[in-house]
Parts: sequence; structure tokens; C-alpha cells
Amino acid sequence: MNVALSTPVADTARPKLEVQKLDAWFGNVHAVKDISLGVDARSVLAIIGPSGCGKSTFVRCLNRMHELTPGARSEGRVLLDGEDVYAVDPVYLRRRVGMVFQRPNVFPTMSIRDNVVAGLRLNRVRADYEAIVERTLTQTALWDEVKDRLDASAIALSGGQQQRLCIARALAVEPEVLLMDEPASALDPIATAKIEELIDELKQQYTIVIVTHNMQQAIRISDKTAFFYMGVLIEHGTTQQLFTRPERRETEDYVTGKFG
Ligand SMILES: Nc1ncnc2c1ncn2[C@@H]1O[C@H](COP(=O)(O)OP(=O)(O)O)[C@@H](O)[C@H]1O
Ligand SMILES: [Mg+2]
Repeated sequence: MNVALSTPVADTARPKLEVQKLDAWFGNVHAVKDISLGVDARSVLAIIGPSGCGKSTFVRCLNRMHELTPGARSEGRVLLDGEDVYAVDPVYLRRRVGMVFQRPNVFPTMSIRDNVVAGLRLNRVRADYEAIVERTLTQTALWDEVKDRLDASAIALSGGQQQRLCIARALAVEPEVLLMDEPASALDPIATAKIEELIDELKQQYTIVIVTHNMQQAIRISDKTAFFYMGVLIEHGTTQQLFTRPERRETEDYVTGKFG
């Protein structure tokens, strides 16, 4: 028997993330309505849909950030490797399910180096910080650009570099899932291309859920796409199928630019 070829059952038997009948509200606003879907390990799921359709709220439910908003609540289940995320400590959960936001949220008073390890310090992780700084900045293709000025302020970096620094910071705590909410929409085309290349690399190792309003971007980087409209999951399938042979009329209208 060739042991090296056998894959652990957990890797193939179930999606990395399973969302079951998820509803989310802000007070009376019903932002996410009865959404169920799975995300395979080491794949990229793109979430598309017009502004206000619940994309951000949905991803913020996946690492329990939604519940941090006053008046916000949710119902339904989110399973990470089969385990209910509502049954685990949210701080621990957010280490496993990292998040990158639209605007690079570097800590402006901190150096580049301190930004990378900020999450590790917060979680009181004992580790070789220098090695992690080099590893994550290399992973995000920033190392050569910043290795000689790790003690400089992070705000001296360009927007695209700051966003890659935020991704390095998210990777430093060794997450399994990365949530990205329009991570390139504040960036110029060259910086955007670098982020897309990076996502392509990262998916070898991580499970990625990315919100994008850019359909070409979804086509370039994702394996599967989910189309949301007014809080509802209208269609979910392979990116190829959803964009070339959508099953639902609403999806077709959206991907062909008839509304949105
Ligand atoms: N903090 C908030 N308080 C109240 N309503 C909110 C809040 N954030 C979002 N919403 C509402 O929830 C709905 C979904 O918003 P959101 O998830 O941000 O959509 P998207 O990311 O697709 O643009 C919208 O109707 C929006 O107005
Ligand atoms: Mg949003």
C-alpha cells in the first residue's frame, strides 16, 4: 500500500466550510436570507452581486464578525471542518478564519515589521517572529520591496503594498480560511493584478472566499461563484458555468450587465 497517496478523509469528504440556512439581520433589516452553500478546501469562492445584496454581511458571519455590530444577529449554522463555529471561542475562530478588508487597515503608528506580527502579539503566540515576518512578506511578494526598511512606518507604503501587508498580517497567525471583502477595489490595476496573482498562489494552501464587484476578477481568480441578490443566493456553481451558462434569468441579467 502506498501510504503517501492516501488522503485524510476529512480533506475530501466534506467542504472546508459549510453554511446551512444562514439568516442575518441588522435590527429589522434582513440582510442575508436562508443561504446554504459549501466551500471546498483550497479553492476560491467568489461572491458577486449588486451593492447592498448582503455580500459583506455574509462573509462577516463566517468568522463571527457580524455579531460584533450592535443590534446585529444571525441564525443558521456555519461549520468549519464540520465543527459549528458558534461552539468555538470567537477569538480562536478568527485566527483560523482570517479577514482582509477593502481598505488596507494597517496600524499607522506601527512599523512594517510590527504590523505583520500584530495578530501574533494580540494572541500571545510564542514564535520566531523574525522568521514569520520573512515568510509572510515573501508569500505576499513584499519581502524584496521592504526587507531593508522593516522598521519604517507602514503608512509610507503604497496602497497596494499596504494591502499585501494586511494579507501578510492575516497569514502570520496561520489561518486556514481567508475572507477577502473587495480586497482590490481601492487599488490601481497593477496593484490589483498583484493581489490576484497572490490569491492564485495562496489557494494552494488556503480556502478563500472573496467578495468582488468586478466580474472579470471573479472569472480570473475563482473556482466557484455565488450570485447574491437582495440577501438571497440566486445561483451558485462553477465560475465557468455561472458566467457562460447561468441557470437563472437574474444571474444572466446581472452577468451580462443588464443591472447592478
Ligand atoms: N451596520 C449596519 N447597520 C444597518 N444596516 C446595515 C449595516 N451594514 C449593512 N447594512 C444593510 O444590510 C444590507 C446588506 O449590506 P452589505 O452586506 O453591506 O451588502 P454588500 O456588501 O453586498 O454591499 C444592506 O441593506 C445594508 O444597508
Ligand atoms: Mg460590501
